[in-house]
Order: sequence, then C-alpha cells, then structure tokens
Amino acid sequence: KLTREFVAGLPKAELHVHIEGTLEPELEFACAKRNHIDIGAKSPADVDHSYGYGLTEFLKAYYNGMKVLRTKQDFYDVTWAFLQKMAQNNVKHLELFFDPQAHTSRGIAFETVIEGIHEAIVDGRALGVDTQLIMCFLREFSKESARQTLEAARPYHEKGWIIGVGLDSAEHHNPPLKFMLIFAEAKKQGYYLTMHCDPKQVDSVEHIKQALEIIEVDRLDHGMNIIENPDLMAYLVEEKIGITACPIAYYYTRQDMEEKAITTLFKEGALISLNSDDPSYKGGNYINDVYYQFAQKVGWGREELIQIAKNSFTTSWISDNAKKAYL
Ligand code: HPA
Ligand code: ZN
Repeated sequence: KLTREFVAGLPKAELHVHIEGTLEPELEFACAKRNHIDIGAKSPADVDHSYGYGLTEFLKAYYNGMKVLRTKQDFYDVTWAFLQKMAQNNVKHLELFFDPQAHTSRGIAFETVIEGIHEAIVDGRALGVDTQLIMCFLREFSKESARQTLEAARPYHEKGWIIGVGLDSAEHHNPPLKFMLIFAEAKKQGYYLTMHCDPKQVDSVEHIKQALEIIEVDRLDHGMNIIENPDLMAYLVEEKIGITACPIAYYYTRQDMEEKAITTLFKEGALISLNSDDPSYKGGNYINDVYYQFAQKVGWGREELIQIAKNSFTTSWISDNAKKAYL
C-alpha cells in the first residue's frame, strides 16, 4: 500500500519549480516589512496567494508576490527556505527555474538576483541537495530583452552557475519560434534547453511541435497536449526526451490534474516526471504532496512512483555517472 512515508523516503529529483513560486506568506511579509513595501497585509495570514482560474490569473498573483524581493538577502532567504523544504522532501537533485527579467524590469540588478540565489545553493549542498539553475526568459518580453538577459548571464554561465535556459510566462501569441535564434545562441554557449508549453493554451500542439522539432529542446515543460498528436508523442518517447508534469499546479489553475495525459504518457513509456511548479501558489503542496496526491487520484502504487522518481533522475542534467546512484 502506498503511504506518505514511502513517498517521503523515495529519493527524487525535482525538475520543474520556479524559485519565485516558492515564496511563502511568512517570508513575503518579512521582506515587505524590511523593504518598506506596503502589500496591504497586517500579518502573514493576510498575505493572499489566491487567484481565479487560468494561466493569466495565476501569473498576476505570481508577479505581485515577488515584488517584495529586492535585495541579495531576499533572494538568498527565499532560496534557502526552499532548499530546506527540498531536503525534508528527500530531493537529492534540483533543477531550479528563476525569472531574471521579472526582477531586472523592476530595477533589480541581475547580479543581486543570481548572487543571492547562488549563495543559498552553495550552502544547500550541506543539506544534501545538489542544485543547478535554469534561467527562464519571459515570453511576453521582446527578443531584444531576452538577448540582453542572455548576455548578462554569460559570466555566470561560464562560472558554471547556470546550466540551462527555459521559457515561461504568458504563452498566448508568444510561440517558441519567437525565440528560435536566442535558443540557438544559448545552445552554442553550452546551455541545456527546455521550454514551457502550458496545458490548454491556444495552438498548444503547434508550440510543442516547434519546441521539439525546431528548437530541439533537451526537455519539455508541461506539454500535456502532446497526447493529441500520437506521432509527436511517439517522437518524444523514441528520442527519450524528458517531460515535466505538474498535476497539482494544473488542479489549482483548472480543477483537473491532467490525469489522462499523465497516465497515457506514462503507459507509452515517456520519461515523465512529477513536479510542483509554484508550491506556495498551489496550496503549499511540495513535491511529496504532489507524488502522493496524484498517485491517490489515479490509483498508482509504489511501483509507478519508483518509475517516476527514476525518470526524474534519468531526464535530469547530472552526469551519467552521478545518475547511476539513483537508477
Ligand atoms: N507557466 C508559465 N509561466 C510560469 C509558470 C507556469 O507554470 N510558473 C511560473 N511562471
Ligand atoms: Zn512552470
């Protein structure tokens, strides 16, 4: 029988979580206070992370919450708090998204953001959590802004602080192809590539096709609509491209966990993993909650979750040698 203890004991990799989406009300309140920002809350209990349905509504809450992050200490603290959670969740390896343009566009220096996050990542190794960073471009921002961001990241990429680039935020009218040349340049610089194709977006399957066949991503984020195109799904399986699902996140934006897509991909042999996405905006559900609740929902037992955890390491960007410890 599947128990929470079993899930807690399973070594896992988490591959789809945004650091800004882990900011819990307590720390948000504390940062607001010390940075003298009025967020209209008298206590942490007043900090409201609720929103309506759909990606647009979620993004409004997400960008609103992160406004309190201003100093290197703020970025350190949000990352450190999350890494402690990851240790408690028995996450051995973490590939963590950050959204620099969400901060530089508010006048925060790129250095402030990355140095705060990186310092916590280094300290997090003592917790047994090995973390790599993935820098996401905001897709509603211009190509020029993405290019400047890639340029700002260059010295940190060269130091080994950023392993990959991703693409997130408002998907409508912002297809993968918009960033074709940026991603080609990032690949040339040695970054791994991934991209969000959120579920149930306009032209979702077309976006997935672009990401897989033209951009040639190393991994696909969400991409649940791929089941509508069996040829494309067969390609994903054949090429052993990882796909990151976030069922509890889907539930919070749409009241549905994409059970059909996730179980279909699993049965077809796709290298699918389960992830939390933005836990502090998805009911405070971290990765162990995601594994347990999804398994309960679809009747999965230990065997399926062991395979999911293996998939998370297989499709991570750690060395083949390091993977051996978990496979
Ligand atoms: N989709 C798009 N953008 C995001 C997400 C997401 O799930 N989380 C944070 N930014
Ligand atoms: Zn995401």
